[in-house]
Amino acid sequence: MKQIQTIAIVGAGAMGRGIAQIAAQAGKQVLLYDLNADSVKAALADVHAVWSRLQEKGRMTAEQVDAAKACLQTASDLQALAPADLVVEAIVERLDVKQGLLQQLEEIVSVDCVLASNTSSLSITAIAQACRHPERVAGYHFFNPVPLMKVVEVIDGLRTSPEVGDALMQVSRDMGHTPVRAKDMPGFIVNHAGRGMNIEGLKIAQECVAPFYQIDAIMREQAGFRMGPFELLDLTALDVSHPVMESIYRQFYDEPRFRPSPITAVRHAGKLFGRKNGEGFYKYEDGKKQVPQ
Ligand code: NAI
Repeated sequence: MKQIQTIAIVGAGAMGRGIAQIAAQAGKQVLLYDLNADSVKAALADVHAVWSRLQEKGRMTAEQVDAAKACLQTASDLQALAPADLVVEAIVERLDVKQGLLQQLEEIVSVDCVLASNTSSLSITAIAQACRHPERVAGYHFFNPVPLMKVVEVIDGLRTSPEVGDALMQVSRDMGHTPVRAKDMPGFIVNHAGRGMNIEGLKIAQECVAPFYQIDAIMREQAGFRMGPFELLDLTALDVSHPVMESIYRQFYDEPRFRPSPITAVRHAGKLFGRKNGEGFYKYEDGKKQVPQ
């Protein structure tokens, strides 16, 4: 099985920086790239700040922090990703853009480099079909926030070679995550099962049965979820999750159970994305959620 030691990450947003953090902490050589140089800078500062906090709390030693910092390098262009054994893309959730990126990467990386997509909802088979070597393309779906959500989906597209999936299973364990293998079906496991909570939560709000924050409270306190549906939508951010809801609905041929809600459509249009830009269902002050009383 292919051993993965050098991991390139394309997209330094919420997901890319989390994946970079856990990979560097596990001693992998990490190359972090983003089309937007400011995003890479912010990601590096963010991950360094997390490591400082972990050191203050005694959860990492100074030596471990230094070692992790040495493992995490930034890249200013795609060419610099040539040494990668694995590239994980965590860029915008658009099929054409992801396909274009993988085509570019195929011109740069070695022929046995694994190309993995952190897509939430797009077909891995569809992403891979633009590639010369679709057998090296797999889904690699982490959850937000990556360092705390210790499970990851490994998705085999129709043409993915089993060894590629096996290599991703192994590298997940190297990074302290539990991998779960899934087939290439809309929403894989989590975003299929998760429709139940999201869509029903939105319907309850739309029917004015209760305000969103009370629905969250019930789902947390009574149903035992870590977050309610609106807290989760705010964390994921609607610019990511609204297109995901639409995409899964379409891929199941307009299955009524998965129909997205106009509540998220209008908020998406109004850029009330969530925690990342200070206002979603909740408002955030200094990153702290304000719960209506
Ligand atoms: P984000 O918006 O926080 O970050 C995306 C980053 O990609 C941005 O920094 C942007 O500049 C960069 N980017 C966009 N196009 C690019 C390109 N062509 N080349 C290089 N960089 C590019 O997005 P987020 O939340 O990190 O999501 C990324 C991917 O992960 C999406 O496919 C999303 O569906 C998936 N995902 C998101 C989750 C979440 O909770 N936010 C959870 C699991 C998966």
